[in-house]
Amino acid sequence: MPSVAVLGAQWGDEGKGKIVDLLTPKADVVARFQGGPNAGHTVVVQGQQYILHALPTGVLHPGKKAVIGNGAVIDPTALHEEIEQLRARGIDVKDTLVISRKAHLILPYHRAMDVAREAFRGERRIGTTGRGIGPAYTDKTARMGIRFADLFDEALLHDRLQANLAEKNPLIQTVYGHAGFELEALFAWCLEWRDKLAGYLADAEQLVRDAMLRGDSVLFEGAQGTMLDIDHGTYPFVTSSNTTIGAVCTGLGVPPSRIDHVVGVAKAYTTRVGMGPFPTELLDQVGERMRTVGAEYGATTGRARRCGWFDVVMVRQAAWLNGFTSLSLTKLDVLDRYDRIKLCVAYEYKGKRFEHMPDELEVLTNCQPHYVELEGWQENTLGLTTYDQLPAGARHYVEELSQRLELPVSIISTGSGREQTVLLRDPFAS
Ligand code: GDP
Ligand code: IMO
Ligand code: MG
Repeated sequence: MPSVAVLGAQWGDEGKGKIVDLLTPKADVVARFQGGPNAGHTVVVQGQQYILHALPTGVLHPGKKAVIGNGAVIDPTALHEEIEQLRARGIDVKDTLVISRKAHLILPYHRAMDVAREAFRGERRIGTTGRGIGPAYTDKTARMGIRFADLFDEALLHDRLQANLAEKNPLIQTVYGHAGFELEALFAWCLEWRDKLAGYLADAEQLVRDAMLRGDSVLFEGAQGTMLDIDHGTYPFVTSSNTTIGAVCTGLGVPPSRIDHVVGVAKAYTTRVGMGPFPTELLDQVGERMRTVGAEYGATTGRARRCGWFDVVMVRQAAWLNGFTSLSLTKLDVLDRYDRIKLCVAYEYKGKRFEHMPDELEVLTNCQPHYVELEGWQENTLGLTTYDQLPAGARHYVEELSQRLELPVSIISTGSGREQTVLLRDPFAS
């Protein structure tokens, strides 16, 4: 049975949660492989909204294995809260959730440093979610992170925490003006969470390997989006993990040759939360209307999302970097009432035309987008479920995108509900 990766093609919030939820019935295992509680994946089932942060979206389907791989970073308190909130709504992950013992913890000092550093940077801030993501990944690469596996060797844990605090406390206290952290309290915190979460910890890489060798179908759930990738995104206005396809391999221990389909998820327009360049951003009423109609407010922080036209240059880049085998186009309904709809097909900076994403921040920040204009369809697409039902203008828009991106469209989303979907090709049916 095939494996399918679902990845964001823009700056996150493309509707990955909805698409993963839609495909989960075909999968045996749903796995997250990077990121942490900075993610906010929304699913609407029979009018009930669920927002998943650290947990794979697959937990909403009874009986599916839900894996958090070694490449993710986990805040035990936030995870526990999420588990409890789901339990209160009748969803129990006790027998389905598996967390890699190699996953790194987000410790209280990571969260404090994330928030304090952003405040310290003032106008130069990234606009992070404040969940401790950057500092946790920084420690992982600096080889001073704490993995779940490390919680079981208490002497080693104590020693590592002591060494870490010797470096961190002076920085936190002197530069950021924070009270700092106390060793024994932090040590007790680690042991408490080890004991509370022990039942979920396992060799997740082996579980995924065994599942794949058995012929089970695996769905890889990406978080954030390609342009937030630490290497390929709009650096430094990015997250601290790789969000692109390679992260499936490194973040779960899966060989690239075992990933059969890569579904890129893109909104029919573009949004971004936080700071950083956004060539097609609309600071006028047109953008305001997208925000209102699309309910573009962050699922994790509630911040208003910046809105703009679809950027072909950016999504083409994402298609190449990830090897998208098809596109899932979401929120088509949000464009229902426009006279004209624009597509950015190139950028211009100081007389030079760019058809590929430039890597210089200055160019990305100050370039002019080149648009082609299409006629709007001015009819309802909300909730439509077949391609034929779509107005001719909407079909034309989808076909124009597909052609310019050189990608087949597998799924069109026409509303936040599970059933508000046009399924053109099932990525699992290969
Ligand atoms: P994710 O992070 O990629 O999973 O996306 P988010 O959940 O952060 O943001 C997507 C938002 O759009 C959520 O509120 C979804 O319920 C909503 N949504 C998803 N698909 C559609 C759609 O086709 N139409 C509309 N109107 N809303 C959608
Ligand atoms: P999902 O999975 C949209 C953004 C933040 C900020 C930058 C760095 O829901 O698509 P971080 O806290 O990761 O250090 O913040 O990345 N960001 C997201 N934007 N969707 C997300 O996740 C995001 N996760 C992080 O707003 O600009
Ligand atoms: Mg989101």
